[in-house]
Amino acid sequence: MYKKRIAAIAVGLVACHALSAGAADTKTVEVMHWWTSGGEAKALSVLKDGLKTKGYAWKDSPIAGGGEAARTVLKARVASGNPPDAIQMLGFTIPEYAQEDYLQNLDPVASKEGWDKLVPGPIQKFSKVDGHWVAAPVDVHRTNWIWANKKIFDQLKLTPPKTFEELVADADKIRKAGYIPLAHGGQAWQEATIFDSAVMSAGGPKFYQQALVKLDPSALGSKTMEKAFDQMRALRGMVDPNFPGRDWNLATSMVINGKAAMQIMGDWAKGEFASAGKQPNVDYLCFNYPGTDGAFIFNTDQFAGFKKGEASLPGEYAFASTIMDKGVQAKFNQIKGSIPARLDVPQDGFDECGKKSMNDMRAALKTDSMVGSFAHGHAMPDGPKNAVYDVVTHFFNSNQSSADAVKALVAAVKNSQ
Ligand code: BGC
Repeated sequence: MYKKRIAAIAVGLVACHALSAGAADTKTVEVMHWWTSGGEAKALSVLKDGLKTKGYAWKDSPIAGGGEAARTVLKARVASGNPPDAIQMLGFTIPEYAQEDYLQNLDPVASKEGWDKLVPGPIQKFSKVDGHWVAAPVDVHRTNWIWANKKIFDQLKLTPPKTFEELVADADKIRKAGYIPLAHGGQAWQEATIFDSAVMSAGGPKFYQQALVKLDPSALGSKTMEKAFDQMRALRGMVDPNFPGRDWNLATSMVINGKAAMQIMGDWAKGEFASAGKQPNVDYLCFNYPGTDGAFIFNTDQFAGFKKGEASLPGEYAFASTIMDKGVQAKFNQIKGSIPARLDVPQDGFDECGKKSMNDMRAALKTDSMVGSFAHGHAMPDGPKNAVYDVVTHFFNSNQSSADAVKALVAAVKNSQ
């Protein structure tokens, strides 16, 4: 379905190839991304500076509203024959565009710089299509984190909950003390981000893969999946009434400012704490969503270059090489909250949450517990992903029972395939 949609707009792009090739400014690289929060913008400046040292100017094309909005804008730009030179992409979106022959082959840069040996296997699965590099991964984010205000936890003598039941009991104490237990932004992708953790907590890595990666109807329709929805229902009871539509970084601010005690969010939230001058284990705590120790639900930002003719190629290569630069990856990820997508970057300079993430990823790689985030497009293609988004967000924003949600989930996945 998605493929067909891209194919339908192919004609426009092919027509524009010749045009863009002639008109392209070889010394400028237009980069489209959705990094518009304070922490994200600071991290982005590392990439801008890196590109500059290679002799290229950065043409900034930020898209407000997150990855979903960016995907829509990209489709429109491709349809009108005017794609950017490079674009931030997640998971299955990369092979979908590559299979339609839109993406630049980055093999010359990748083989010169040895990317094959540097990038973890589960990430390469998305960076390479038919054995060819078509995207450069700049970071590894993780979604099964909880970010907590340390002052509130200390005041109430709370420690990171080890089970979901403990989390529920802690939330009760937090509410009674006058704080919001869970800072949440009511946008479909944020609800999906919480769902990543709920499914992992309810069933563990094997179940997560069976249900959300293999889309096995018996796992999707199981009692274990019902437990994941039960967790979502309990979490819904922990948020404040003003959650609908709130941006994720505003929810993070609620934890930073001590209005709320916790946020379940990928570690780009850490970029907001850092940007506000906050320190881990001094001002805030980072710990795994209960029941997900040992599991690493990853979300990797990659940049792909669009095929726009020979003239744009040197700039796109220079940008890919900037992204994969060891020093750039160290600096960028320390600010962004993520960890490098290269395995050879030393831990020096990373804070305790970053070091934990680096160690956890290495351990998870050995036990096959590094699994792709459903919410951020690394578990299933965009068609079923959007269908599951609808089920999850409808459940979170209604009084539907977990048993009915599970039935809806099985049906939605079936219809989307
Ligand atoms: C991206 C992150 C980004 C976050 C919030 C995620 O989809 O992978 O890099 O910080 O969205 O904008």
